[in-house]
Amino acid sequence: MKILAIETSCDETAAAILEGPEPGTMSQNPCLQLLSNVVVSQVDIFAAYGGVIPEIAARSHLEAILPVIHQALNDAHLHPQDLDAIAVTHAPGLLGSLLIGTLTARTLAILWQKPLFAVHHLKSHIYANWLPTASKSSLEKVPAFPLLALVISGGHTQIIYMPEHNHFEIIGTTRDDAIGECFDKVAKILGLPYPGGPSIAQCAKKGNQRKYPLPHPKVDDLDFSFSGLKTAVLRSVQNACDLDITTPSYELKKHLSAQQKADFAASFQATACDILIEKLELALERYPETKSLVFAGGVSANQALREKARQVFEKTQSGLNLRLFFPELQYTGDNAAMVATAAYFEIISGVQPTDPYKLNILPRTPIK
Ligand code: KG4
Ligand code: ZN
Repeated sequence: MKILAIETSCDETAAAILEGPEPGTMSQNPCLQLLSNVVVSQVDIFAAYGGVIPEIAARSHLEAILPVIHQALNDAHLHPQDLDAIAVTHAPGLLGSLLIGTLTARTLAILWQKPLFAVHHLKSHIYANWLPTASKSSLEKVPAFPLLALVISGGHTQIIYMPEHNHFEIIGTTRDDAIGECFDKVAKILGLPYPGGPSIAQCAKKGNQRKYPLPHPKVDDLDFSFSGLKTAVLRSVQNACDLDITTPSYELKKHLSAQQKADFAASFQATACDILIEKLELALERYPETKSLVFAGGVSANQALREKARQVFEKTQSGLNLRLFFPELQYTGDNAAMVATAAYFEIISGVQPTDPYKLNILPRTPIK
């Protein structure tokens, strides 16, 4: 079956077509083929503002959505009548952005008479780990259940337990800022360009991660907190520049040398990664039956995190027989290929299509 997926939850307008075996004919690890994958990013627009402006994002989606879907069909050499289903991100995300994608998908589902599937954005990020890739020729190379997924993006920081396909239990979540948001805010303090994650990772390469010690938050259980870390960086920068704590954050960048910026970027990145790894270690103690550790979301592109995770979990805990999964770099950020993959596993798990006349957006609803 061929699924056209549409993603517009934040500032990427994306469409993709995925082909998989018909439901009922499949094994645990079906052979999936990505027929097209189109992403138009608004990142250049928002670099000028230092962050996403929801109103502009929605207008940009409106301009891009039809050409992007058209290109996804063209790249796959398909006509609308060749499709078996349409999938769309309906939650969570920016209200105006979600509306453009869902209204388009609803209209096309009615017009082309295709079943419509509504997909949660965090599910999609997790399912990026099932996408077919060149290096993943063997069907063995997909995560095994039960698994723990660490979802780390601009809007979320969660540990999710999955006993099987399409079953999600949130076992840890952030009490304040998301980790990606924290990367973006620290980058702003250091005067590094938006989006902050890749800028910090790049700048940190020349830095000393032990130069500025930063605290780990004391949060019970498997929950996270990142707003204190952001403030700790702010105070440490003010201190390093001999400035008063009332000095506004936007003033600080001009007082920092290039080496200081690199040292702060490296110190912050190392601390943020350590906090994630510590919680994952605790989660594995609580869920010792876990077979796979799956990373998902924009921040999972971070190489320092990938290296540290491999060191900690593949080497020291090899006795656990735990396997680590990271999405291919091109699928870490927002895209529709992962939405199509999530929809495929929804369909084969028996989820019924949604009414195209009634589908609502849910900008803040958690995964379930
Ligand atoms: O998943 P995503 O593309 O969008 C959301 O669903 O939020 O995640 C975007 C976030 C941004 O905060 C961005 O700064 C962060 O992912 N990010 C990174 C890296 N690449 C993107 N954070 C750390 N290291 C990276 N290499
Ligand atoms: Zn995302």
